[in-house]
Amino acid sequence: MPVQDADLVVVSNRGPLTIDADEEGEDRYQRGGGGLVSGMQTALSESPGAVWVCAAMRERERSIARGASGHRLSSVPPAAEALHGDFDVVMLPIDAPTYRAAYNGIANATLWFVLHMLFDSPRRPVFDARWRRQWAAYQRYNLAFAETVTQIAADNGTVMVQDYHLFLLPALIRRQRPDLRIGFFTHTPWVGPDYFSALPADVCRELLEGVSGADVVGFHTRRWADDFEACCESLLGARSRARVEVFGLRTDARELNARAHRRDVESALRDLNVAVGDRLVVGRVDRAELSKNVLRGLLAFRELLVRYSEWQGRVVHIVFDNPSREDLVEYRDYTRDVQELAENINDELGTEDWTPVLLSIEHDYPAALATLRRSDVLLVNPIRDGMNLVIFEGIVLSERSAVAVVSENAGAAEVLGSDALLVNPFDVSQTADALHRALSMPVDERAARTVGLRAAATQLPPTAWFAAQLEVVRDSDSVSG
Ligand code: G6P
Repeated sequence: MPVQDADLVVVSNRGPLTIDADEEGEDRYQRGGGGLVSGMQTALSESPGAVWVCAAMRERERSIARGASGHRLSSVPPAAEALHGDFDVVMLPIDAPTYRAAYNGIANATLWFVLHMLFDSPRRPVFDARWRRQWAAYQRYNLAFAETVTQIAADNGTVMVQDYHLFLLPALIRRQRPDLRIGFFTHTPWVGPDYFSALPADVCRELLEGVSGADVVGFHTRRWADDFEACCESLLGARSRARVEVFGLRTDARELNARAHRRDVESALRDLNVAVGDRLVVGRVDRAELSKNVLRGLLAFRELLVRYSEWQGRVVHIVFDNPSREDLVEYRDYTRDVQELAENINDELGTEDWTPVLLSIEHDYPAALATLRRSDVLLVNPIRDGMNLVIFEGIVLSERSAVAVVSENAGAAEVLGSDALLVNPFDVSQTADALHRALSMPVDERAARTVGLRAAATQLPPTAWFAAQLEVVRDSDSVSG
C-alpha cells in the first residue's frame, strides 16, 4: 500500500538504510552512517507510525526504490529486518544525473563549503553556467521531495525537514499544503552574511526564503542561530518569518554504552591494547572530512612530540577516519594528504617499538568505539562543526576520564565550556600546548572535569531533543496556515 495519511514525516537526504551488494551480489542492508542518521534513528524509536522520506543515494537503492514506487520500504522483507524502530521509510529514486548534481555539486561542494568556510577563495567557488545547471538540479531534487511529502502527510500533520540538502523544501511544502506544521533542523553551522553572500544574490534569497518557509528553524547552538538571523536581516531585509530556536543534540549514554560493550568491541579493544601497550592515547574518530581538520591535528601532535620531547615513546595518536563523499576530488586529495603526513611523522619520529600515529581509513565501528573507550585525551579540532557528537560519545565511553581538547568553532565547545580545553583550530602550537596540558593533567583535576563533561554530553539525548522540537513545532501558530 502506498504511504498516506502520515501524521509525522521526517525528511532527509541520507536515510537510515544503506543498500549495497555483498560478495555474492546479494542485496545487503545496513544502517546509514553520520551524526544526523544516528541521532534521528534513536529519536524515532519512540515515534510509532512516523515515516522517514529519504533519497536513494546509489544505483542499487534506486532500483529497489523504483520497485517499491512510493510504497513503504518495509514491504521489502530484508529492509524491515534492518530497520530498528516502529517507523517506515520511503526512498525517492531521483534520476542519477539530477541526484549527483544536487548532492555532489550543490549540497556537498557548495553549501557544505559555505557553511563550514572551506573555500580556497583564490580558486573557488566559481559560479558559472555549469554551476547553474547543478543549481537547477538542486531545485528539481527539492521539488521531488515536496511532491512526495505533500502526498503522504495527513491533514494538519507535522513534517520535520533536516539539513542543507533540503533548504528549499519548507517553502515548497508550505505553498502546497498550508495546513501542515513544518520544522526545519540544521545539523551544520551557519555563517554570517559576509561569507554567505559569496553565493549569488538570487540563490541567497531562495535559500533563506526556502528555510524560512518552516514554522520553526532549529540549530544546535545560539551562535549558528544568530548567524542565520543576521543573514535574513541583511540579505532579505527582514527577520525570518520562522521562529528560530536552539535544540542542542547530545548523546544517549545508555544506548551507547550497551553498544560499546558488545563482544565485537571487546575484541577490538583487546587488539588495540596489544598495539599500544600501556602508552597514553590521544584518540579521535571522524568522517574523513575536510572540516574535521585532521591535518592540523597531526601537525599539533608532531609539534607536541618535538617541543615536549618527554612524550616520545609514551603516547600514541589514534586517528579513525571513516571514508566519506569519495566522489569529490577535494575529499580524496585531503585523505591522501592525511595519509602522507601520518607516514612522515612515523618515519621521522617512530622507533622500532613505537609507532606514534596509528591511522585507519575504513568503516570499522567496533574499532572506533574501542578507540574512544581507550582514549586518555580526545582531540576534536574542527575548522567549524554544527555540534560534533563524537566528542560527547568519547566523553561517555572513555574509561580513563579523558581530557577533551575541543575547537572553539565546534558547537560542542558552547556546551562543554571550561571543562574542556578549548583551542583555535588554526593555531597548531596552541593545540600542541593543550595536548601537553591534557596529557600531564593530575588525576583529581581530570576526574573533576569529567563530572561536568559527562553531564553536558548527555543533557539532551536524541529522544528528548526530538520531542522538544515537535512540541514547539506543533504549538506554533502557523503564519500562513
Ligand atoms: C553531516 C551532515 C549530515 C550527513 C552526514 C554524513 O553530519 O550534517 O546531513 O548525512 O554528515 O554525510 P553524507 O554526505 O555521507 O550523508
